[in-house]
Amino acid sequence: MDGLLSPDRLWFPVRHLRDGLDFGRFPTDVRVAMGVFGAGRDLARVTGAPRAAMEGYCREAGQVTAEYRPRWAAERGQRLDEFLWAACEALYATVRAVRPAEMVETGVQRGVSSAYLLAAMERNGTGHLTSIDLPTFDRAGRVNRDGFVDDSSVAGPDAVGDLVAPGLRRRWTLRLGDARELLPPLLDELGTIDAFFHDSEHSYDQMSFEFAAAWPHLRDGGCLISDDIAWSDPARRAWREFVAAHPGPACVYFSSIGNRGMLRKVAGAAGPSGDGSRRDAFK
Ligand SMILES: C[S@@+](CC[C@H](N)C(=O)[O-])C[C@H]1O[C@@H](n2cnc3c(N)ncnc32)[C@H](O)[C@@H]1O
Repeated sequence: MDGLLSPDRLWFPVRHLRDGLDFGRFPTDVRVAMGVFGAGRDLARVTGAPRAAMEGYCREAGQVTAEYRPRWAAERGQRLDEFLWAACEALYATVRAVRPAEMVETGVQRGVSSAYLLAAMERNGTGHLTSIDLPTFDRAGRVNRDGFVDDSSVAGPDAVGDLVAPGLRRRWTLRLGDARELLPPLLDELGTIDAFFHDSEHSYDQMSFEFAAAWPHLRDGGCLISDDIAWSDPARRAWREFVAAHPGPACVYFSSIGNRGMLRKVAGAAGPSGDGSRRDAFK
């Protein structure tokens, strides 16, 4: 099976349109769709990986999807749209390129993103992931600090990360609690990290807090990634402000909706990175 993540945004698998691509609330014209799936070039630019290598990582990511998708789709008990797979494949390709020894993730739910990160670490033959989640068992979800409802919930404590296959768990530590409380001591404990992925509460406050906490611990050349930066205006603002204040190679991928941001830390980088917004969406 082809990966959903194209190594080049000029490529687009028409069959995804034909076979019922579920963009939900997102626009569906082809140009937009190309932007959604064409993250590979941006990933190469920001991580510094050669394009050919990134193409290989994207292909591998597609194989991971092919392997796990049927089980995850069945077990998760809800429809998983194509966008989620593509977003997770991008995480996989990033971890293959950055080869983090230590990575931290906030926001696990049932562990789809964690599984892709861990699958990439397995392939790297190195790396450890620590994930933090403060689960809610209320199916209605909860209201975040900006007043938006986040409906991500799990059935019970054992359901947090339960989709991560046993064979992927040896490089994984899962900590349950509020990232506000757990993240700073975890980062102090780890000292330096190579990559950070935010996918917990997408409020201005929480995102800004996590970015600011992770950044000083990120090694030179490491990557800060945030999901759902287009989730709300406050979330957009949190990403844009942080990127504007921390120059370095950056991109917004799945760029038509601009939902995932990545920023690489480069010592001595000067001037605005220019990627805090969707300006580069169709470069
Ligand atoms: C969008 S879901 C994460 C999805 C997950 N990354 C995946 O790939 O399936 C958001 C998660 O953030 C968690 N969360 C919300 N607020 C949090 C907080 N303050 N600290 C830690 N986790 C939090 C929720 O319990 C939920 O599981």
